[in-house]
Amino acid sequence: MCGIVGYIGSKNALPMLLDGLKRLEYRGYDSAGVAILRDGKMLVQKKVGKVSELEKNVPQKDFEGTIGIGHTRWATHGEPSDINSHPHTSNDGTISMIHNGIIENYQAIKTKLEKLGYKFKSATDTEALVILIEEMKKVSGDLETAVRLALRQVEGTYGIAVVSSQEPDKIIAARKGSPLIIGVGDDEHFVASDAAAIIPYTRQVVYLEDGEIAVLSRQKFETKTIDNVGKVKQIHEVTFDIEEIEKGGFDHFMLKEIMEQPETIRNSMRGRVLLEDGNAKLSGLNDVMLLLENAQRIIITACGTSWHAGLVGEYMLEQYAKVPVEVEYASEFRYRNPIIKPTDVLFLISQSGETADTLAALREAKKKGASVLGVCNVVGSTIARESQGGVYIHAGPEIGVASTKAFTSQLVVLSLVTLLISRQRNAISVETAKIMCKEMLDLPNKIQKILEETSHIESIAEEFKDSNNFLYLGRGLNFPVALEGALKLKEISYIHAEGYPAAEMKHGPIALIDENMPVVVIAPKDSTYDKIISNIQEVKARKGKVIAIVNDDDPRIKSLADHIIIVPQTIDILSPIVNVIPLQLLAYYIAVKRGCNVDQPRNLAKSVTVE
Ligand code: G6P
Repeated sequence: MCGIVGYIGSKNALPMLLDGLKRLEYRGYDSAGVAILRDGKMLVQKKVGKVSELEKNVPQKDFEGTIGIGHTRWATHGEPSDINSHPHTSNDGTISMIHNGIIENYQAIKTKLEKLGYKFKSATDTEALVILIEEMKKVSGDLETAVRLALRQVEGTYGIAVVSSQEPDKIIAARKGSPLIIGVGDDEHFVASDAAAIIPYTRQVVYLEDGEIAVLSRQKFETKTIDNVGKVKQIHEVTFDIEEIEKGGFDHFMLKEIMEQPETIRNSMRGRVLLEDGNAKLSGLNDVMLLLENAQRIIITACGTSWHAGLVGEYMLEQYAKVPVEVEYASEFRYRNPIIKPTDVLFLISQSGETADTLAALREAKKKGASVLGVCNVVGSTIARESQGGVYIHAGPEIGVASTKAFTSQLVVLSLVTLLISRQRNAISVETAKIMCKEMLDLPNKIQKILEETSHIESIAEEFKDSNNFLYLGRGLNFPVALEGALKLKEISYIHAEGYPAAEMKHGPIALIDENMPVVVIAPKDSTYDKIISNIQEVKARKGKVIAIVNDDDPRIKSLADHIIIVPQTIDILSPIVNVIPLQLLAYYIAVKRGCNVDQPRNLAKSVTVE
């Protein structure tokens, strides 16, 4: 949700800012802008559209300068337009600021400032803050104090970077609720929403915490609280490589990430599956094993695709570990004053580790005395840092806005957690656990098989690319897979799609079925197989078009379905990890054939750091 990048050093800032913004575009891509300080002047260029539009419009020669800030926007307040793009500038033109988050009391601040004679150009909340800083500077005389004084009056969330032409030797950055890191280079410093923006230049990063402010100059950086209490921060090393955040010959990040899954799943399991013992080793849970053993209830909260992973986790944990599990949207959880007991353990699932609602759910549960554990992809993310323990999924950077490899890795980690808790509670036999380990280790090969033969799925995509609606049906563990298949399709192709438990279809969606309705049915050879065949029959009786995900070319389904996609069989509990792969591919190919921007679907952002 909005990407921030800033540079101060001895090199030309603009190319690095543009490069960084392109890497941050997955956070928002409706408009972009930069502010550069040159010869005591503040130069600002902003443009609606992608970063490439900004690049075309910024006069590169005139904008040569060694300090600057850049922003790629996902609109909250004010439509995408040149005027509403960041940076926003003070009335006197000396201060520019970029912002990720929402200033909730901006209207009150704006009214007060208007009474003092200030003029507003945009419809954004951000402009209120930069003009408030301008007003505070009149009181304090210096930029840093002005930022601190202004932030004390602000309600809401922010990650900001501020520059002033009157103090052209510094960038001030501050964070509350929106991620921000400092990059420490050789005689240069960076500020960014995440490491992807600055990885070509430095791997040394400092994670800012909520309520902290940083003052960057060419030679050094200082961190303190907004109340001006100094803070010594640890420098961390970013471990991922530049190749991991590039397309590597694929047309889209999404396709690259789908194709990477045999490897990413292997990475999620590496060193964690104890085949001989029939157990899992998850060192991030070592300190909370007693809590897990005594947990009366597990609550999983998450958003979007991660929430779907949580739903699969519920089936896994209840079936194997025999612990009651509840799954809830993080956005709902925190506003309904949930009953939480100290004996509850909460798992927060989040690819980015920054989703505002999931983070708020974590804080709410912690406040109420529950134990909170994170299942995150981004190392060092806020949710990971604020959790008492947890498991990284190690899927590597996911850039495509529609989550794919993170989902399968989340499921792998939930399988490992299930294995661990089931063994700890003696809820499954060693034999069953060993079978699960073996099947887990086989997953990468099974997925590889699906990925080697995609032309069949592509041809199905061609046939249905002009459909207006899709229905996805699944039962048991594969009901959340149906939800995820539908979500993938609507996110990137803008086709309306619904996921439904197959047996519920007759209570409503069946009314939608006619010869124009494609119905994707997940029909693995498991305990629900016969029932799902009846559901397929119900669809066919109403002339629906059935695309069935199956484990072999069983003549019963073959004679009913219009198309079958065969995927290798695994044990029931792991089947979602395999069955979702053709659904990701189907959505991908349909979106490409419809000419949609697969990696940057309209209105979406990868990391939603506002409510
Ligand atoms: C956004 C993304 C989704 C993602 C969801 C949760 O909506 O577009 O792909 O599933 O946020 O994100 P998280 O990082 O918490 O898993």
